[in-house]
Parts: sequence; structure tokens; C-alpha cells
Amino acid sequence: MTLSVKSFHSDPHAIIGSSMPLLEIFEIINRVAKTDSTVLVLGESGTGKELVAKNIHYKSPRANKPFIHVNCAAIPSTLLESELFGYEKGAFTGAVTARAGRFEMADSGTLFLDEIGDMPPILQVKILRALQEKSFERIGGIKTVHADVRIIAATNKNLEQAVKEGRFREDLYYRLNVIPITMPPLRTRTQDLPELCEYFLDKYSVKIGRKRLTINKSAMNYLLQYSWPGNVRELENLIERLFVLKQDDTVTPYDLPDKIINRGIPEFPNTVEDDENPFINGIDLNATIAKYEKNLILHALDLNEGVQSRAAKYLNIKRTTLIQKMKRHGIDQNVIKLT
Ligand SMILES: Nc1ncnc2c1ncn2[C@@H]1O[C@H](COP(=O)(O)OP(=O)(O)OP(=O)(O)O)[C@@H](O)[C@H]1O
Ligand SMILES: [Mg+2]
Repeated sequence: MTLSVKSFHSDPHAIIGSSMPLLEIFEIINRVAKTDSTVLVLGESGTGKELVAKNIHYKSPRANKPFIHVNCAAIPSTLLESELFGYEKGAFTGAVTARAGRFEMADSGTLFLDEIGDMPPILQVKILRALQEKSFERIGGIKTVHADVRIIAATNKNLEQAVKEGRFREDLYYRLNVIPITMPPLRTRTQDLPELCEYFLDKYSVKIGRKRLTINKSAMNYLLQYSWPGNVRELENLIERLFVLKQDDTVTPYDLPDKIINRGIPEFPNTVEDDENPFINGIDLNATIAKYEKNLILHALDLNEGVQSRAAKYLNIKRTTLIQKMKRHGIDQNVIKLT
């Protein structure tokens, strides 16, 4: 099968975007990649913290050495110590052979301590010692193991708050927080959204093996207005879902989840104030309803790219009724398509 899309060769770790906050982050990544300094990547879930860690590693002189990822939240706390530091044969029941931990595996490379905010306090002490001394012992071992490891840690938790509340050791926090990088939430850099959409449209077209979808203007407007609590991951998941589920190739607002579209439905106004006849002893029912009706009509036209027949269908009224109401509300007919 031939796909009518440009081939997708891109770097799997590419960080897409060109907004100011992201350009500043590229700059920091390039600088810290040359060094061995400890980096702490902060930011909401889905903002690209892991991507930043990989970029630092693959741009660093350690790029050909291992990049070892430890998800401190995913490994049960009872196992985390042996995962990190390894164990000697017979250290505990079931330790039939000796095993190296991730610190050792990362020797001369990078150890990515992900979700560090979820690290149990007892291990925080051991990690701190390993970071300070660049050495540790395997569980059940007496020999000191040296490992030359570059540390990158990440969390979506507020570590400063955790320190204040006594859940995270202050000394470890300062040890990790040498070069902080804070990933901005997607809602604060919506100018990157069209570029990210293009990138994921290419990516999933190739991955799923179907013609590239396009996002129409009004759907894009909704994407731009949405708050993206799950950040870039939420956008990527949405695009993947569209590739799997959509029948035709154009994404319209109707294909978007309710939580994205509903934000466009105007709130019912509490009261409507008329400057000439201030109405202060209650709610002016007619004026309030008229205002809400006007807002809903504008919303329906917006959602349907100004196509009156579709807006009328959306509002479950006749097209002629819609036109009458538009006249009554002074909605300009000329700026809106008549098809
Ligand atoms: N700027 C970006 N360009 C391209 N892809 C991105 C970008 N930011 C994030 N992604 C993608 O979004 C997904 C989530 O990113 P990542 O895992 O790095 O986030 P995270 O901050 O570590 O999230 P969490 O806190 O939930 O672990 C990944 O598939 C990643 O490739
Ligand atoms: Mg992550």
C-alpha cells in the first residue's frame, strides 16, 4: 500500500514546538548536555519530562552509554532498593544469584530517576548517600561499588511543598535541584499546538498505516481553546484515537470529545444589565434568555464554520428560523457563509 503522506523519519525523541518557553528549554538542554550536572525536570503530567531527560542524554558525551530509566512510583517500595542497588547471592530468600542494580547498569551513562517525588523516605537517605559518594553497596554485600553516573530526576509533584511537609528530604532536594528545568503546561503555549498536531498526524498516519487526517479550522479553534490537563500526552492520545476510529479523513468539531467541545457552549448569564433601563430588583427574563439565545446561535455557527444549514440542524431548528433569529439578534449575515 502506498501512503500519500510524507515519510516520517523523525527523531523519536524530538521535542516539537517553537514557543518562547520551549526555545529557552532547548537552550538549557544544549548547555547541560555538555556537563555532568544533576538535572531536576519538573512539570505537570504529560508535558514531556521524560523526553527532556532523553534529549539531555542523547546530546551528551554519554550518548553511546546506557540510559537507564527507573520509575520510582511504579516499583513497589520493597523492591525499589534491590532494583536500584542490586543484591548479592543469598542476600534474602529468593536471591539465588547476585544481581546488579540500575545504578551499576547506568555506569558511565545516565540514570533517570523518574517520579522521584514518590520515593519512600527510607530510600531517599540511601539515594542521597549514593549521589554524594558516587558509591554504594549491593544489598547483602560488603564491597563498595563505584559507579560514574549522571543523574536526571523528574517529578510532577511540588517537591518544595513536600519538603515543607516533611515528605521529601531537604538535603536530597538540594542535591537534585542543581539545574532545574520546568516544562510549561500546553495551555500556556498553545502556539505550539498546530505544530504538535502536524507532527502527530504524520506520526500516526505512518504508524497506523492510513491516509493522513486533516483537522479543519473550526476543530482547531476548539483544540486551541481547551485547557489540556493531560498536556501533550492527551493531545497525542486524541490524535491516535482519531486515526483508529474516524471513518473519513477530515476532523471536525463533531469528532472531538465532549469535554473539548462543551467548553465552547456559553454559560447561562446570571443577569443581563441594560444600561438604559437598569433592572435591579430581579432577573430580566426576556433579556437574559435573548442574550443566551444569541450566544448559543453564535456558538452553533462557530462550531459549523458558519454553515447555516448545519448550525440550524445542530440547534434543532429550521434554517429559516435561524435566519430570523440572526436578524433579530443583529448577527451579521455577510460574514457567515450561506451554503
Ligand atoms: N514537545 C513535545 N513534542 C513531541 N512529543 C511530545 C512533546 N512533549 C511530550 N510529548 C509526547 O507526549 C508523551 C508524554 O511525554 P512524557 O512521557 O515525556 O511526559 P512526562 O512529563 O514524563 O509525563 P508524566 O509526568 O505523566 O510521566 C510522550 O509520548 C512524548 O513523546
Ligand atoms: Mg514521565
